[in-house]
Amino acid sequence: MTVSQDPNAEIFSSEEIPERLDEQHIATTKTFGFLVHPNIPLNSPTIKIADIGTGTGIWLLDVAKSLPPTCQLIGFDVSSSAFPPTQTLPPNVSFQIQDMLLPFPASEIGSFDVVAVRFVSTATTRAAWALAIENVMTLLKPGGWLQWIDSCNFALYNSVAGSSRAACQEIYDGLEPFRAKDDVVIGMVMREPRNMRREDVFRKLGLTDVHEDVFSTDRLQDPGLQLRDKGTRNAIVCFLACLQALVGVDGNGWSEERIERLKVEAMKEVDEGVYHTLDQVCIVGRKA
Ligand SMILES: C[S@@+](CC[C@H](N)C(=O)[O-])C[C@H]1O[C@@H](n2cnc3c(N)ncnc32)[C@H](O)[C@@H]1O
Repeated sequence: MTVSQDPNAEIFSSEEIPERLDEQHIATTKTFGFLVHPNIPLNSPTIKIADIGTGTGIWLLDVAKSLPPTCQLIGFDVSSSAFPPTQTLPPNVSFQIQDMLLPFPASEIGSFDVVAVRFVSTATTRAAWALAIENVMTLLKPGGWLQWIDSCNFALYNSVAGSSRAACQEIYDGLEPFRAKDDVVIGMVMREPRNMRREDVFRKLGLTDVHEDVFSTDRLQDPGLQLRDKGTRNAIVCFLACLQALVGVDGNGWSEERIERLKVEAMKEVDEGVYHTLDQVCIVGRKA
């Protein structure tokens, strides 16, 4: 993942590690128990679905498996670096390079039944988030549904008395410059929802039937704790990639050496039972 050199950037643009995204997809889908929120009807045999910030397209490809081949699914991303090879795709699935903050091609406007967005914000201000929602809503037909998924409320825990979580905490605390703005509404680096009515952003933009579900990652049945362990390492890798953006920025104290040292120490802490929980948030709404 690469992020803007501006530590106040609202939305990260990423060159993601495909394996990290695919692992995150498996855990997230288990936490939610659905790919598409049950309030969204999928019964039309010609349904058209967009996935914004699609990454490896794993969500879209999984959704395609449960739909007839007459449905059309398009993944959009600002970077094609994680797109799956074209020759591996079913004929009804395709991918396009597109910044979600810029106008979509005229041919796609108003043509989708469902637009899904997942994990594109890490520390999104109300204004930036509303802008992105407004822009992706242009893709929807009247009556079409938007599904927005993101995480917040990362929290660290020990599972063995006397063990350290200092390195994991230092990594998480290092992300403070990204969450310094007052009106951050959603995103993985955010600790507390500063405004609990995230749904209002959707309502104000004209969506109806707005509903928000929040599931904690500890909802998972995970007897061997393998998902918890993998998920913690996954988040640490993600956060360290975010911190790379601070290396070389004057006065913040971040260097490649510090990041590398913390990575080793944090993984050792996870070996010794340190783990995290996150809130997974899914907000859905229908275009009037
Ligand atoms: C954390 S990954 C999530 C990928 C995928 N949605 C998933 O859940 O597996 C974030 C993705 O958002 C993309 N992205 C970031 N900013 C974007 C923008 N302005 N427009 C479109 N895609 C963007 C990145 O390139 C990256 O693939």
